[in-house]
Amino acid sequence: MTGEHLGGDFAWVDIPTVTDNRGSLSYAESGDLTPFDIKRVYYIHGAPTGALRGRHAHRELQQVMVAVHGSCYVAVDDTENRHIVKLDDPTTGLYVPPMAWREMLAWNDECVLLVLASEHHDPDDYIDDYEEFNHELRNDDPTT
Ligand code: TYD
Repeated sequence: MTGEHLGGDFAWVDIPTVTDNRGSLSYAESGDLTPFDIKRVYYIHGAPTGALRGRHAHRELQQVMVAVHGSCYVAVDDTENRHIVKLDDPTTGLYVPPMAWREMLAWNDECVLLVLASEHHDPDDYIDDYEEFNHELRNDDPTT
């Protein structure tokens, strides 16, 4: 699935995987798997089933999210459309562009959500308020 999005397109990404009778090995390389240089890797684990994470957008950050174990759902929202997708495959990632409101929910099976990120952590890159996100998405200055 690829989604049209005001802030850019989001898309599924096939993660190259080598499988033999010893199991599977999946790998990601900057500029190959991801359309950005990977500057940061983090992972979310131990999220209880009812946890709602995310609930923000990023101004510049690009990410690829992979449920390397278990499953969760990701809502990607551009204020006009809200797509909810399930991540449950360690060989498939979800590319999330800048200016996409995202929520991660319905965690199960002790989900481990791996995130490849284009930038170092920067609190100033977050938009935590949905109305502000709506304004910025349309190049509106929320202070005017
Ligand atoms: P946050 O991005 O808000 O996670 P979520 O949206 O899943 O709830 O991050 C949670 C906390 O972790 C917050 O205090 C910022 C911190 N954090 C870092 O220090 N470095 C990082 O790379 C990330 C992603 C978060």
